Amino acid sequence: MSNKVVIGAQWGDEGKAKITDLLAQKSDLIIRYQGGCNAGHTVVTDGRTFKFHLIPSGILYKNKICLVGNGTVILPEFFEHEVNDLKKENIDLSGLKVSPLATITMPWHTEVDGYSEDNAKKGKIGTTKKGIGPTYTDKMARIALKIEDLYSPEALSEKLDVILPLKNKQLKEVYGLKTYTKEEVLDLCKNYAKIFEPYVCFDWQDMLRKFKAEKKNVLFEGAQGVMLDVDFGTYPYVTSSNPIGGGAATGSGYGPKMIDEVIGVAKAYVTRVGEGPFVTELTDSMGDTIREIGHEFGVTTGRPRRCGWFDAVTMKYSCLVGGITSIALTKADVFDTFDEIKICTAYKDKRNGKLYTSYPTDVYIHKYLEPVYETMQGWRENISGIRKYEDLPLNAKKYFEKLEEILDTPISIISVGPDREQTIFKK
Ligand code: GDP
Ligand code: IMO
Ligand code: MG
Repeated sequence: MSNKVVIGAQWGDEGKAKITDLLAQKSDLIIRYQGGCNAGHTVVTDGRTFKFHLIPSGILYKNKICLVGNGTVILPEFFEHEVNDLKKENIDLSGLKVSPLATITMPWHTEVDGYSEDNAKKGKIGTTKKGIGPTYTDKMARIALKIEDLYSPEALSEKLDVILPLKNKQLKEVYGLKTYTKEEVLDLCKNYAKIFEPYVCFDWQDMLRKFKAEKKNVLFEGAQGVMLDVDFGTYPYVTSSNPIGGGAATGSGYGPKMIDEVIGVAKAYVTRVGEGPFVTELTDSMGDTIREIGHEFGVTTGRPRRCGWFDAVTMKYSCLVGGITSIALTKADVFDTFDEIKICTAYKDKRNGKLYTSYPTDVYIHKYLEPVYETMQGWRENISGIRKYEDLPLNAKKYFEKLEEILDTPISIISVGPDREQTIFKK
């Protein structure tokens, strides 16, 4: 048995789905453990491109169970849309299951998220407006609906009697938004129950027991990335869940001792969508070049991603708090035409010259920090067709080995293109 977690080690969009899809070949159960349809996960195989938001990126294989775990938040209409898109592509969804304990994103959650983003005078987060923050807020406040409530008229009715007066007061008085009657919400829930019916996994306890007893391989798919983690990321410019390796345990029903490896996916550079500090951000033509060559535009919102050089200060921090045991480095091929490649090894405070080699968690000082770079020579060769580590150009190997040295963490996978096949297993 080998249970692996795939997490993003930066600010999301590192290529987690490609790595999940790849590792899913040898897994029996794939669990998405946090986040919602804020995620946009791309898998490319046999010339076809698939984009997932909630459904685990292992769904392309037959005979695997893909569970949307208890730690996720689910926007029903979006889930339905995603399911229908996959059906149109003739993807077999017989292995798709949804935890009855997952939390439902209700219309008021997306409305409040949109309102907060559109009306923020200060402190705009740049969210995906998919209701993520408001849904997790209500989950923690114990006033959210779970998938299982859709099938229990008593629970649903009693919960709505508690939730709706509170919500309506908040919607009307704080946000000036539309309120909801109980009948309206019950109607919505009737439709949601139909959407999820084929997939709800009421026997999840028996299923997990069986998988554990038979020592089946489990793959946990993280969304977002460590620097967007609500505890460890660039708070408040974060998402509202725990993308770190530890999130796999709370979001799935597997305990921490059942996790053997945590693979931290990182790009050979850094991107970020939305607001928030980004010390190595390149706002010049170099940033544009990386965006163009790397096609850095969001899967979920289409927004251009902010681009910058590899930040080993945050990555070292991610390895620590993410519990990362090895790194999957993606998009190294984007540097094929570059003469020089930079790695940020420290931050320097412009005010007093203070050097930081450990990540400073007070993000309000990040505007005073500038990156200290180590410059590596480029390899100036197309590496996208290479499949063996020993066949890589010397400068590419030097670059990867330098990263391993700085991060004190091995690189286990190098991705040299979007396709499943464009991968080098290093160890
Ligand atoms: P995720 O959210 O972490 O799953 O990543 P996204 O799907 O949002 O973004 C990653 C993008 O990079 C997708 O378009 C992938 O197809 C693409 N990609 C993944 N790995 C590589 C790689 O090694 N090289 C190149 N050029 N593209 C890659
Ligand atoms: P994947 O799984 C990149 C960012 C948003 C915003 C912040 C909060 O594809 O890597 P939210 O809607 O979650 O409340 O937004 O988090 N964000 C992502 N950035 N990739 C993602 O997912 C993201 N999911 C959320 O841009 O800055
Ligand atoms: Mg993405």
